[in-house]
Amino acid sequence: MKIMTVVGARPNFMKAAPLIRAVRASNQAGNGPQIKHVLVHTGQHYDEVMSDRFFADLDLPKPDVHLGVGSGSHAVQTAEIMKKFEEVILRERPDVLVVVGDVNSTLGCSLVAAKISFDAAGSRPLIAHVEAGLRSGDRSMPEEINRIVTDHVSDLLFVTEESGLRNLRAEGVSTEKVHFVGNTMIDSLLTFTEKAEKSNVLERVGARDAGGSIARYALLTLHRPSNVDSRDTLLEVLGGLEDLAQAHPIFFPVHPRTRQRIMEFGVKLSGADASQQRPLDRRNGIILTEPLGYLDFLCMMKHAHIVVTDSGGIQEETTCLGVPCVTVRENTERPVTVEKGTNVIAGTTKEGIKKAIASQMRRKGGDTIPEKWDGQAAVRIIRALVDAHRERNSASAALLPQSCA
Ligand code: UD1
Repeated sequence: MKIMTVVGARPNFMKAAPLIRAVRASNQAGNGPQIKHVLVHTGQHYDEVMSDRFFADLDLPKPDVHLGVGSGSHAVQTAEIMKKFEEVILRERPDVLVVVGDVNSTLGCSLVAAKISFDAAGSRPLIAHVEAGLRSGDRSMPEEINRIVTDHVSDLLFVTEESGLRNLRAEGVSTEKVHFVGNTMIDSLLTFTEKAEKSNVLERVGARDAGGSIARYALLTLHRPSNVDSRDTLLEVLGGLEDLAQAHPIFFPVHPRTRQRIMEFGVKLSGADASQQRPLDRRNGIILTEPLGYLDFLCMMKHAHIVVTDSGGIQEETTCLGVPCVTVRENTERPVTVEKGTNVIAGTTKEGIKKAIASQMRRKGGDTIPEKWDGQAAVRIIRALVDAHRERNSASAALLPQSCA
């Protein structure tokens, strides 16, 4: 059996790593078919800080195939991915294609597989979408379009939270295709929390002193085009952080898009660049750092007093870590993080963000971990893929004339 997994952008790597470990474990256990795994990196994210470092941190093998696609408009990037991926899938002919999350690589590769034909009978791989069914209800988000299209061309839909089951049912997706398995991003978090604890990132940014005591700090990430691509919106969002920045240091690992905009707009921040700070020179304000690797970021999240973000995955990771999170968006496709977890949706106005931060700073624990976020999602997924492959083979054998079967 051959499984091909596609990764492309930063948030894909931690979702795919547990699947590759589960394949290895299944092969070692020897109680199912031997699985050959092929890892394809589209190169949507391509540099050390957005990609390479994650392979080392997550013990991911070197990709078997690298498409080297790089940046571009949505249409150009997706088209490049599709053109290059078609050659790869025709050459490799996997039994199952696994795509994860909601980035352009997820969309491009699932579309190619849905229309590919390996032979005259029109056979093609099964398409499995990991993190299916999430919906923000906001079709102006490119990721929402990617989610909807990917789900509707997939054969197996692996859902992380109950809202995913409801959304897919409401869109008429057959329940036979849908499996509620948990969250592979949380598999990674649970696997790597101990290793992340050994990171020296807190010393590097000046959040831990020589005596080992950790400052009360906030962690900030912003990269959504809707928040950072307009000067007025970016200033409004940063305005919402004024009170917090006066009371505590806010560490801000800056996404390349956001750094570009901050420079273009000439935005002045109140803190400093962590690389230019003396290590123990703690100060308040917004302190910029380079984008962090997986282990460094996990360590910083775990020890943060509060996290402010517009990311999807960080809402889930903070829920699992029990760290208060303020999401600078109008909606979330991950409602379980609000219902059961530590997340609050603040909107994008200065006042809304200030209010949400103030209430989250007073938050006491007592949150629960969402159902099936137990570190076993990838194992469930690989088991379901093996079963689906076996069923498909026996169904096609049944169609052959007796003498051939
Ligand atoms: C993409 C995903 C988004 C995800 C985010 C995480 C889509 C539609 N969007 O958005 O869902 O949350 O990744 O980071 O797929 N850049 C670099 N180095 C890199 C990668 C990008 O400098 O390794 C620069 C690009 O040149 C571009 C900017 O960062 O200027 C944005 O990259 P892009 O790939 O357009 O998408 P993201 O905003 O990162």
